[in-house]
Amino acid sequence: MPNSYKDTNLRTAAVIPAAGRGVRLGPGTPKALRTLGGVPILVHAVRAMARARAVTVIVVVAPADGAAEVRALLDAHGLPESTELLVVPGGDERQDSVRLGLAVLPPDVDVVLVHDAARPLVPVETVDAVVNAVRAGAPAVVPALPLADTVKSVDPVTDLVTGTPERALLRAVQTPQGFDRATLVRAHESVTKDVTDDASMVEHLGLPVLLVPGHEEAFKVTRPLDLVLAEAVLARRRATDGY
Ligand code: C5P
Repeated sequence: MPNSYKDTNLRTAAVIPAAGRGVRLGPGTPKALRTLGGVPILVHAVRAMARARAVTVIVVVAPADGAAEVRALLDAHGLPESTELLVVPGGDERQDSVRLGLAVLPPDVDVVLVHDAARPLVPVETVDAVVNAVRAGAPAVVPALPLADTVKSVDPVTDLVTGTPERALLRAVQTPQGFDRATLVRAHESVTKDVTDDASMVEHLGLPVLLVPGHEEAFKVTRPLDLVLAEAVLARRRATDGY
């Protein structure tokens, strides 16, 4: 049995960066506050984390000028009593927002998930798989899927292709990404390189990052078509799973 099981008092937290403007989705409300099936995307994401039995603390990182509004919104939609909810203002870049969320974690948290607000439909099985792999001793864990498309590296100035990485060696990674808390804090303290996910900061520390299977319904709502797909997935769940 992994060591961490011995101390049952230590808790798992989810940090949800939700401070992005979501410009690729078009003008209007910040992405996390747009609705899906009548419920804000952020509320879906928070519920997706709360559904995992291990997660008892959730930190939502709100747009810098919108923390009070986000707090009121989450209170209005309600969460299980067993979940402690903190809301803090975010920063200019995603990693600034994650860092601000990490800064308010209670001392008794030893496992941290970082989950994009923009992935409202991640199934609980995926969240559980990430938590279990961290609890079993991996310092960093990411859900991943094989790619459907062939990917090219390019010169963005000339638009010329510079290479074609072998597709079988590539994965698309999702969130929640899970971490041993001390490892993630150290990564955020020491890695200043511009990155688009948290696991890559742990890679920069030279530590292993473990993959677990991702899920196609954990996709990121980024472009208008993603909203159409998300509405369809939600409608199916409500019709068949009492979601
Ligand atoms: O921009 P991208 O799609 O990578 O954003 C991923 C997540 O990071 C989104 O949930 C977004 O709200 C969040 N984010 C943030 N603070 C920023 C930029 C993005 O919390 N400054």
